[in-house]
Parts: sequence; structure tokens; C-alpha cells
Amino acid sequence: MSTPSLLILAGDGIGPEVMAQVRRVIDWMGDKRGLKFNVSEDLVGGAAYDAHGTPLTDDTMARAQAADAVLLGAVGGPKYDDLDFSVKPERGLLRLRKEMDLYANLRPAQCFDALADASSLKREVVAGLDIMIVRELTSGIYFGEPRGIIDDNEGGRIGINTQRYTTDEIRRVARSAFELARRRNNKVCSMEKANVMESGILWREEVTWVHENEYQDVELSHMYADAGAMQLCRWPKQFDVIVTDNLFGDLLSDAAAMLTGSLGMLPSASLGAPNEQGRPKALYEPVHGSAPDIAGTGKANPIACILSYAMALRYSFDQGDEAARIEAAVEAVLADGARTADLLGPDGGEAVTTGEMGDRILAALDASL
Ligand code: IPM
Ligand code: MG
Repeated sequence: MSTPSLLILAGDGIGPEVMAQVRRVIDWMGDKRGLKFNVSEDLVGGAAYDAHGTPLTDDTMARAQAADAVLLGAVGGPKYDDLDFSVKPERGLLRLRKEMDLYANLRPAQCFDALADASSLKREVVAGLDIMIVRELTSGIYFGEPRGIIDDNEGGRIGINTQRYTTDEIRRVARSAFELARRRNNKVCSMEKANVMESGILWREEVTWVHENEYQDVELSHMYADAGAMQLCRWPKQFDVIVTDNLFGDLLSDAAAMLTGSLGMLPSASLGAPNEQGRPKALYEPVHGSAPDIAGTGKANPIACILSYAMALRYSFDQGDEAARIEAAVEAVLADGARTADLLGPDGGEAVTTGEMGDRILAALDASL
């Protein structure tokens, strides 16, 4: 088999800093475990805008399409706040998701035991938590037409976005959720707002259709998304897999992140349809953003990005054992007390820098051999 290709788009803010630590883990896997990749780098977001006047060039888009997997850092920053909407850094990321057709966004929220006290919720609520949010990523209100800001011809303006879902879009992401559930605790909870939105009614009907026709062995429940948000904070361990639309998934996954102690812990995988070799188009990225307020200070937590690389090993390259090795190394380092600033509880303590966290994880990987 030829060496698989990995395209790295570090992006903006803390993206390059956390990605530098991921590069060390990638190199370690190549040296110590024989997992070689053809790694190349390119620009996305504000970094691409600064160099080329667009948050994603056609050339980079083509390279992403051709790569076996894409690893992304983060996009955006206050410097770009006043840019025209069409060239904002976020548009680069949305274009990648849309054109690669990465419809299933997997956002696992796992609470490492050592961090159960870093969560803003009580230890017993979050300890041992392991849930998976499957967010639809290529449709819904993020992409629906019509959209825009128009004059109302009476001196005011109207902002418009459209929530739009088709049968096929709902069914394919529902299938992703049911497939994952079969490999976990066999439960799916679907979230929408069928009480106020027609798209929510369709969502519920289509998820139910897929369940009745293809996945009766999996337990399915439905919840309104607002109640779902409340239940996530009340007793998150009731869930196994949550499947939801693009916008609700954006909100619910940030909420779920805090259950794990910090947004700096959450990785994600965005997957498209599998090709003939069974390998999906794929992009892996931490759920946290570019955190411009701490960029360049050594405070960023590289764990979410490192765990995103682990997800790439698992979902794109069939290397579940090596992914588990990375996850175990992270767990060991946390159990040992290493904390980046975001993981310090209210009592404070001494934080390690981004690079030191990388050092510790590499040492734990060495110790795993
Ligand atoms: C996310 C982010 C993105 C989103 C932004 C950066 C466009 O919040 O991946 O959760 O809204 O999808
Ligand atoms: Mg978000």
C-alpha cells in the first residue's frame, strides 16, 4: 500500500501552536510504530486570506479533496471581524465541509477521570461520561437558501436564514448515528424542534423511518433540542449517541464539551460517504476555536487536536490500537497531574505550557512501548 497522505491546515490563532504538538506525535508514530504519512501543509482561514485574499484557495480545496485525511487547527480572529461575509475565515472551513460533503460530524465527549473535578458540574454527574454527538454538517440553516440581509423598504432591514433538510440528508446522517451506536451502547437519541419547526417534524419522521426499516436492534428516542440541552447538564450519562442537525449540534457539542472539563479536550471527525476502499473523505479538527485571546502565550491545550489525530488513525486508517495508545497517553498525563491553564480548577495550581504538555504526552507514549 502506498503511503497515505495527510494535509495539515493549521489555520489561525492557537491553531499553529497546537498543531506543532500534533506534528511531534505524528513523527513519533512514524519513527516508533512505522505509521508513515506523506504530510503536507497549507493555509486556511485568516492565514489564507492574508496570503491570497480568500480563506481557501481552489488549489487548497483540490489538495484537500485528494488527501486521505485533512487535519485542521482552527480558523478566525478579531482581525477579520470586519471582512465581507464571503471572505471571512469561517467560510474556508464551511467550504471544506460542504465541497468534501462531510455530512457526519462526530464529536465525542468523554470525561477523563482525572478531569472530573475540572468540570463545572459535580463529579458524579460527569465521571466516566462517554457520549457521542453526531452533528449533521453540510446542510440546515448553515447553508439553506434564501439567506442574506435585505432592506425592508421602510428604513429597516431583514436578516434571513433558512433551515432546510431533505429526506436523504436526514437519512444518511441517521445511518451514521445508528452504525456508531451498534459499536457502542446501542442507543440513539435524536434531537430537533418538531414542536415548532416543520424541518424538525421531517427530521423526526425520517430518523424513525431509518430506525424502523434498518436499525430496529438499536434503541431510539427523540427529544426536543432545548430539553436535550437541559438533560445534557442534568444527567448526561443517560445518553449514548445523540444525532442532531447542524445548528443544534453546534450548540449542544459546546455544552457537552464543558462536561469533560474544558473545550480544550474535545476532538472531532467530519466524515463523508465511504469510497470503494471503505475509506470516507475525512477532516479532523478540535472543537475549540482559534482562541485569539491566548494565542502566542503558550496557554493553549494541544489535547483536543492530538485526540483529533487519534480519531484520524481510527476512522481513516484502521489503526484503532494506535489511537487507543494516544488516548491512554493523554489519560496517563492527566492522571499524573499535568494541566494546561484551561484545565486548572477554581483552586488554581501550576499550569504547564502547550509545549510542555506535548513533552509529557510524548514521554507517556515512549513509556507505552
Ligand atoms: C464549530 C465552529 C464552527 C461552526 C465555526 C468556526 C464556523 O463553531 O465547528 O463548532 O459553527 O460550525
Ligand atoms: Mg461550534
